[in-house]
Amino acid sequence: MVSYKELGLVNTVEMFKKAVAGGYAIPAFNFNNMEQMQAIIQACAETKSPVILQVSSGARKYANQTILRYMAEGAVEYAKELGWEHPQICLHLDHGDTFELCKSCVDMGFSSVMIDASSLPFEENIKLTKQVVEYAHKYDVTVEAELGVLAGVEDDVAAEESHYTKPEEVIEFATRSGCDSLAISIGTSHGAYKFKPEQCKVDPKTGRLVPPPLAFDVLHEIEKKLPGFPIVLHGSSSVPQEEVDTINKYGGALKAAVGIPEEQLREAAKSAVCKINIDSDSRLAMTAAIRKVFAEKPAEFDPRKYLGPARDSMKKLYMHKIINVLGSAGKAE
Ligand code: G3H
Ligand code: 13P
Ligand code: ZN
Repeated sequence: MVSYKELGLVNTVEMFKKAVAGGYAIPAFNFNNMEQMQAIIQACAETKSPVILQVSSGARKYANQTILRYMAEGAVEYAKELGWEHPQICLHLDHGDTFELCKSCVDMGFSSVMIDASSLPFEENIKLTKQVVEYAHKYDVTVEAELGVLAGVEDDVAAEESHYTKPEEVIEFATRSGCDSLAISIGTSHGAYKFKPEQCKVDPKTGRLVPPPLAFDVLHEIEKKLPGFPIVLHGSSSVPQEEVDTINKYGGALKAAVGIPEEQLREAAKSAVCKINIDSDSRLAMTAAIRKVFAEKPAEFDPRKYLGPARDSMKKLYMHKIINVLGSAGKAE
């Protein structure tokens, strides 16, 4: 049993309290490799932004949970080396699906876990979430739960709406489960293809696809029911069109990739939404930078020569999110 406190990590209690009161959101960036971790920490150290480092199931399979945990411990030391005296870094399990997995993360030094039982019926979701909360809280580890189902690109609009979080259920869910934060469904979804072209309008000036707006009415209803309670938005990549263009220019084939417009995320960050999950945008920035090097310097075969530019590009993206979208810069001086 390792306590995250010994590793210099923090849970989400203080981060979220300040974010809700201050009208900004904490970035939750997924990481799978060293370059992503370095880019995240460089961006957060430079902007003094609190941060949540997230480990998904895919990351655990790819990189190994133990390695990622030690990388997070290294991240705290790296942040200090970069001159960030009091780093506020949370290590979080993203989309945990069983009690055993959440327990293994708590036992290993994670400071926060998500139990995603959103695909289960209401009562079963509460039961599993409560079981995780009871274990995690013994060790001061915070728990994110999810209510409502994030739409996949295969869903049509009607099906999407029927999966939105039901505001009339949130009080009972939060009270009975004891969760510390709640991920809700208001129209975001995972990946780079969040909307079908037929769900979007075409911007006459740019020719780009403009997606339907998020369901802010649902968010505001939820806020009214649970005043000050930390709300989480998954699937919040914006799919920067410059990155998509660069990928396609250098041999990629990303067609009709559409994300959540940044002005909507800015608006959400000012509300009870205090954690915004971003993964796909970092993948796009990394892929675009690597493709560019491969196309322009085909004789290059030193991984540092393409992973280095990829890391720089991800750092730029993270800084942009922190400063211009989430508003978390300077909140962890
Ligand atoms: O929630 C989805 C995240 O983007 C993680 O995805 O399991 O492919 O790493 P992944
Ligand atoms: P994106 O695919 O929009 O980056 O969402 C990531 C996420 O929600 C991780 O849990
Ligand atoms: Zn997610």
